[in-house]
Amino acid sequence: MLMQILKEKLNYLRQIDRYRERVILPEHIIDFSSNDYLGLKDNSYTKEKLCKEISNLSLGSGASQLVSGYKEIQKELEEVIANFKETEDCIVVGSGYLANTGLVQALTTEEDVLFSDELNHASIIDGVRLSKAKKVIYKHNDINDLEDKLKKNPSKRLSFIITDGVFSMEGDIANVKDIIFLAEKYGAVVIIDDAHSTGILGEGKGTLFHFGLKPSENIIQMGTLSKAVGSYGAFICGTKMLVEYLVNTMRTTIFSTALSPIQNFISLENLKLLIREPERRKYVLEKSRYVAENLRNIGYNIHFHGTPILSLVLGEDRKATFFRDKLLENGIFIQAIRPPTVPEDTARLRITLSFNHTKDQIEKLIKTFDNLYREVISHE
Ligand SMILES: Cc1ncc(COP(=O)(O)O)c(C=O)c1O
Repeated sequence: MLMQILKEKLNYLRQIDRYRERVILPEHIIDFSSNDYLGLKDNSYTKEKLCKEISNLSLGSGASQLVSGYKEIQKELEEVIANFKETEDCIVVGSGYLANTGLVQALTTEEDVLFSDELNHASIIDGVRLSKAKKVIYKHNDINDLEDKLKKNPSKRLSFIITDGVFSMEGDIANVKDIIFLAEKYGAVVIIDDAHSTGILGEGKGTLFHFGLKPSENIIQMGTLSKAVGSYGAFICGTKMLVEYLVNTMRTTIFSTALSPIQNFISLENLKLLIREPERRKYVLEKSRYVAENLRNIGYNIHFHGTPILSLVLGEDRKATFFRDKLLENGIFIQAIRPPTVPEDTARLRITLSFNHTKDQIEKLIKTFDNLYREVISHE
């Protein structure tokens, strides 16, 4: 019975072009889908350091942070992150997904109201779903709509505004300056998800710094170590009291094993590298702008938002998978992003640039899109 149900569901996904497969990309395929914006995930500096240090590191943490899994290397990583983000304290957690779901659930009660951007990442959506607070979804990056909703939905205790710093599927930047202005006006706490801003915006420190703002006790900055940092794990930065509270209440760390010391070592070394080498950030953004401008000149409707993420919205799922397959035939991998990851009728190619992409690879990308435009779009 179960297998029959699963088979039908899978067949349905195939029919509507929403069937997904994991792919192992062969070496020769150029990857324009990775979140390794700064080219750190394979860097030889950290690999060599790890080889030298490996005999001093445990392979696993052995337990959750509150039992015996909290190690010196994690403490050091937290100190470096807090220092970088200019906050009093930081907690490192298993992943961005665990950070968002755990954070929202830990902080909110049924007396609170949570205001969440409609295009926030699924981990925020799931955190909001787990929370007992009243949920209010505001239009994407729409400050007027947010203010309208803040006025209409006062809380009995606390209000929270939660937003991606850089929106993962669009590549645009949240209007954090105005969000914080509204938060101060209406007495709300702001949670910023810097998954895609860490290492990129505000000299790598994140969205707040991009707008020339500084951390305060009513701003919580979350970020991942899995994207520009090229490792795995996530962090939440704020006051000492916030971290103390999360250590005591966040279910996704209390009931989950701490990250391996090896992983934290990689995060620490990559983060230090990212701080030491600001040119990585500068070059990836130049590459992103260059690709966007060239695709626009060909005729594609694409925008550079000041981030390494370029979103080419194609509409129908079938069109996105067709483009993906055609690109692959030409040695380029760009995943087709389809609902429910993005809203209905906005299936797209999410093109991401990396510091490591060479000039030849980028020219090949542009040439292939040029050919596809002439073959497909110009005949529509
Ligand atoms: C905005 C955003 N937040 C959180 C996450 C989850 O992070 P992680 O992959 O570390 O679980 C992602 C990426 O997957 C993301 O894009």
